[in-house]
Amino acid sequence: MFGYHAKMRCRGYILIAMLSLASLLLAGCQGSSDDDRIVLKFPHVTAPGTPKGQGAERLRELIAERLGDRVVMEVYPSGQLMNEDDAIEMLAFGEVQMIAPSLSKFDRLTRKYQVFDLPFLFPDLEAVEAFQQSSVGQDLLGELSRKGFLGLAYWHNGMKQFGGPVPMRRPEDAAGLKFRIMESDVLEAQILAMKANPQKMAFGEVYQALQTGAIDAQENTWSNNYSQKFFEVQPWFTESNHGYLGYLLTVNPGQWKKLPADIRLELEQIIAEVTAEVNANAAAFNIKDRARILESGQSQIIEPSVEEMDAWRRVMRPVWDEFADEIGEAVMSATPAGPAQ
Ligand code: SIN
Repeated sequence: MFGYHAKMRCRGYILIAMLSLASLLLAGCQGSSDDDRIVLKFPHVTAPGTPKGQGAERLRELIAERLGDRVVMEVYPSGQLMNEDDAIEMLAFGEVQMIAPSLSKFDRLTRKYQVFDLPFLFPDLEAVEAFQQSSVGQDLLGELSRKGFLGLAYWHNGMKQFGGPVPMRRPEDAAGLKFRIMESDVLEAQILAMKANPQKMAFGEVYQALQTGAIDAQENTWSNNYSQKFFEVQPWFTESNHGYLGYLLTVNPGQWKKLPADIRLELEQIIAEVTAEVNANAAAFNIKDRARILESGQSQIIEPSVEEMDAWRRVMRPVWDEFADEIGEAVMSATPAGPAQ
């Protein structure tokens, strides 16, 4: 049988093969409304009250305010139009015009973005921000442009926490549990390092999978854990802050270049303003949603001791060595890991 993993990998190969052709053929294809305004469809999977949800909504508002007679943005939150893997394909084929998938979900298109998934590499959002603003981080925005994806900005969500059916103070407590992960080989290796079982699964399926016991555990930010109501179906969280979840605001480079220059310039200005807002507010969203989970009384949050945190770091650290070569020395050396010894 074709598992989710094998299916996604196969889709990835087909996608890569078709991307150049698609972006050539469809580069000029913008959506247009009945009244000839340019339509920018922006589907995403998180709830409106999340860093990405708010960012998308703010883009829509500012575009309506400043370019309303020429451009209209349609935002489709909560996976109501499509999931993020489909959105990546649909962008390449010109069916949607803007997407912001988690960086982890580009795993099948570039190895370099795996750097964002390495466990405990970035201690906090400030460290991620410093890397993303470095010349290496800025160059990575264009990493996929020849494959039909141009990154315009990085948007933060936050640091990930583990959640599951039992208290997980130390990595041993997670052994044997089945963890949902995003489509990323680094995340798979991270869960295997904990002697647990990784299962790649679309975001929209996680709540039900936890509820029915198809999976035992998962990792996500406080914002996603709250807005997806994961706290209703798993009684324990570990405040591990072990990894980063952030997004690449992405367009089809062919389509983007075809926009009238003045519109593109105004859109770039709006995106810069919204990006600054999203990234300034992301941590506050997560703090607020952590408190809401506690208030719900349905889940408890474990704060591991210094010694317990060291145990998590020790177990996961070998994952860096597994992927550092594929990510490349130039990228790794710009991270907090620094140049190879
Ligand atoms: C998202 O925040 O866009 C979804 C992340 C996930 O799939 O866990």
